[in-house]
Amino acid sequence: MAEALLALEDVRAGYGDAIVLDGITLAVPDGGSLAILGRNGVGKSTLLLTIMGFTRVSRGAVMWRGRDITRAGPHWRARKGLGWVAQERDIFPSLSVEENLMVASRPGRWDLGAIYGLFPRLRERRASRGNHLSGGEQQMLAIARALMTNPMLLLLDEPLEGLAPIIVEELTGAIRRMTADEGTAFVLVEQHAEVALSLSAEAIVLERGSIAHRARSQDLLKDAATLERLIGLRLAEEASGF
Ligand SMILES: Nc1ncnc2c1ncn2[C@@H]1O[C@H](COP(=O)(O)OP(=O)(O)O)[C@@H](O)[C@H]1O
Ligand SMILES: [Mg+2]
Repeated sequence: MAEALLALEDVRAGYGDAIVLDGITLAVPDGGSLAILGRNGVGKSTLLLTIMGFTRVSRGAVMWRGRDITRAGPHWRARKGLGWVAQERDIFPSLSVEENLMVASRPGRWDLGAIYGLFPRLRERRASRGNHLSGGEQQMLAIARALMTNPMLLLLDEPLEGLAPIIVEELTGAIRRMTADEGTAFVLVEQHAEVALSLSAEAIVLERGSIAHRARSQDLLKDAATLERLIGLRLAEEASGF
């Protein structure tokens, strides 16, 4: 089997003395995709923060391309190809769209042209200031900024939260193409479970800081009983098979 891009091995992590995650083991292959599902407060954001190096890991290991990075800091990880889009969209409000993109730029396949190809709406708004964008445009810009750093793996924390259905569709199309066309791997935390599962290859469901279920996304999408038990999701009738 090819070596995983990212692997967590029996990780226990949290903030100070508080343990939030325990026994987390997972792997993402090069060009792969993983959805992280679970109710509010189960530790989804903490898992992404742990991958980026912002939490205290008191057991287990975080591996990046076969190398133990458990003790590496966030900046080192970002330089080595880990990209992260926080739940709070962080863009520079007083800079234009294009300036926001250029300050994040690092050499690689994601340059301005490729980004505007993925997000035509950002090309149209290239001269607009960050604080003049709609919520959906800000989210696109936050993702685009992360891509401009040319990560091998992009961590997305609830990118679809609070967005109108048409924007959700635009964004999911972009995330799909990002991986299909350019091979950028991603880990996606999402409340929109059905969308997340349709975008990803593999999925885990967290419950109280541990992995309660893992499956191929297309299988979990058909597993109405598990989805309802673990995240309270009721599938539409035709999809659930009842
Ligand atoms: N900075 C922090 N310091 C201490 N505890 C935190 C911090 N951030 C989150 N927590 C706690 O960690 C747990 C998981 O939170 P979080 O990872 O944000 O969950 P989710 O993203 O699944 O909603 C919660 O009990 C939350 O209160
Ligand atoms: Mg969260």
